[in-house]
Amino acid sequence: MPSPGPCWLFGYGSLIWRVDFPVLATRRAHLHGWTRRFWQGSHDHRGTPNAPGRVVTLVPEAAAVCVGVAHQVEAATFAHLDRREQNGYLRLAVEVALPCPAARVQATTYVATASNPAFLGAAPLDVMALHIHRAAGASGGNAEYLLALDAALRRLGAADAHVARLAQRVRKLRAAAPEPERRGTSHGASR
Ligand code: SIN
Repeated sequence: MPSPGPCWLFGYGSLIWRVDFPVLATRRAHLHGWTRRFWQGSHDHRGTPNAPGRVVTLVPEAAAVCVGVAHQVEAATFAHLDRREQNGYLRLAVEVALPCPAARVQATTYVATASNPAFLGAAPLDVMALHIHRAAGASGGNAEYLLALDAALRRLGAADAHVARLAQRVRKLRAAAPEPERRGTSHGASR
């Protein structure tokens, strides 16, 4: 449990670009030893229990650096974040590096490990891209999640090869079939 008062939240997925909670400050942040992968199933936001979408989680990789953002938030904000990130994600305490001015801070991040029931794991990029192209959930199309993340990472000057390759494939699929046969439903918007 983060201590009372302001604390840092490390975001590497929708928490970068969909900030539906109050923040005191936001900084670019680097998390060493982890990489971002579209390996987590989404039964709620970007898919349904019968047709889950694919969203990002963090996977340990010794030489990797995951670039995201650190939001400084009040501890009370975690009640909202725990609800938003409920489909398999658990809080993890990590140390992140903030460049310019350089600092290292303790942060909380949400990670969905291979042991959670919604975890999907690795698949060939073409298979994942088609899956994302077709899936949708209560927060909208899975493709919008992917493309928004790709755009946010580029704005940060931190394009991620895994995300960029998937986004390139999904853009091609959208150009060929702008209205895919949906595997889920789309209404509302929260993540
Ligand atoms: C995050 O953004 O840090 C967690 C995964 C997500 O909500 O997309």
